[in-house]
Amino acid sequence: MCEACGCHEHESMYMPKTLTVVKTSPMTERDRFFEFKLDGRDLGHLPGQFAELSIPGIGEAPISVSSSPTKKGSFEMVIRKVGKVTAALHDLNAGDTLGVRGPFGTHFPMDEIKGKDLLFFGAGIGLVPLRSAVNFALDNRPDYGKMFLLCGFTDVSQRLFTDEMESWKNNRSVEFLETVDRGSPQWEGNTGVITTLIPKIKDRLSPKNTKAFIVGPPVMYKFVILELRNLGFRDADIFVSLERRMKCGVGKCGHCQIDGVYVCQDGPVFTLESISHLVEAL
Ligand SMILES: Cc1cc2nc3c(=O)[nH]c(=O)nc-3n(C[C@H](O)[C@H](O)[C@H](O)COP(=O)(O)OP(=O)(O)OC[C@H]3O[C@@H](n4cnc5c(N)ncnc54)[C@H](O)[C@@H]3O)c2cc1C
Ligand code: FES
Repeated sequence: MCEACGCHEHESMYMPKTLTVVKTSPMTERDRFFEFKLDGRDLGHLPGQFAELSIPGIGEAPISVSSSPTKKGSFEMVIRKVGKVTAALHDLNAGDTLGVRGPFGTHFPMDEIKGKDLLFFGAGIGLVPLRSAVNFALDNRPDYGKMFLLCGFTDVSQRLFTDEMESWKNNRSVEFLETVDRGSPQWEGNTGVITTLIPKIKDRLSPKNTKAFIVGPPVMYKFVILELRNLGFRDADIFVSLERRMKCGVGKCGHCQIDGVYVCQDGPVFTLESISHLVEAL
């Protein structure tokens, strides 16, 4: 309970809870997979949300939850080593403890879009938050129509969740396609940016009945959105997840602001329609 006022809301907003590393393993040279557990309870996140991970004396970093809320007892994240906090997180081993605040932010509205076809675009580390929604939909498969999952990586060495991608490929209830920007002798799949996969599924898409999800590097959004609009998708049916420098994660410090919109609270998940007036957003 919050020591200042006794409420539970402030407890989760400002006071880190203790998290234990259950399992960790390398995914690429700079990306590491983590399974974490809280003492006797679930994190309580929804697909697309993030949490602030902290290491005492070092700092805090917002990291997306990658597992679906349908997975109980623990949750998963993938952390890319880019600086001080993420390097310290990479040094953690099974059994070590750290702090967590959250979950924070908006989520993909999986309940409201029941009955719709789903078209997912996950590029690079963008597949990490997207995976939570993908696995949520797969675990509740009868609730949704056709499912398409398009993934892209810069090259073979950057591929994430390779075993899981193999299982998606073999899952007849989802049409899964993958590409790498730059091929190599050992790569037999599609080569080219993620939009090169769209013509392969185009005939089976029903834009008026489909919700599209895009999560990836900033450069990708413009091109995927252009293709989707050309296919007849409305901006209200396109969800994007934005990343900004964050500190508090709870709408207090202003670090993540774009023209009065707080990405940590109003996002990170937005419909394209809701941010079309924000020039800087994408
Ligand atoms: C909502 C949200 C979800 C995120 N999810 C994930 C995730 O699932 N996995 C993951 O590895 N990372 C994720 N990130 C990014 C992660 O928070 C940063 O990489 C981390 O905070 C960097 O901290 P650091 O101390 O290691 O690096 P720093 O020393 O703070 O910075 C190192 C370098 O990274 C750049 N950088 C730091 N933060 C960001 C950022 N948010 N966007 C772009 N560049 C940045 C800095 O400009 C600098 O060049 C997410 C960020 C947000 C806002
Ligand atoms: S991170 Fe502090 S207001 Fe968004």
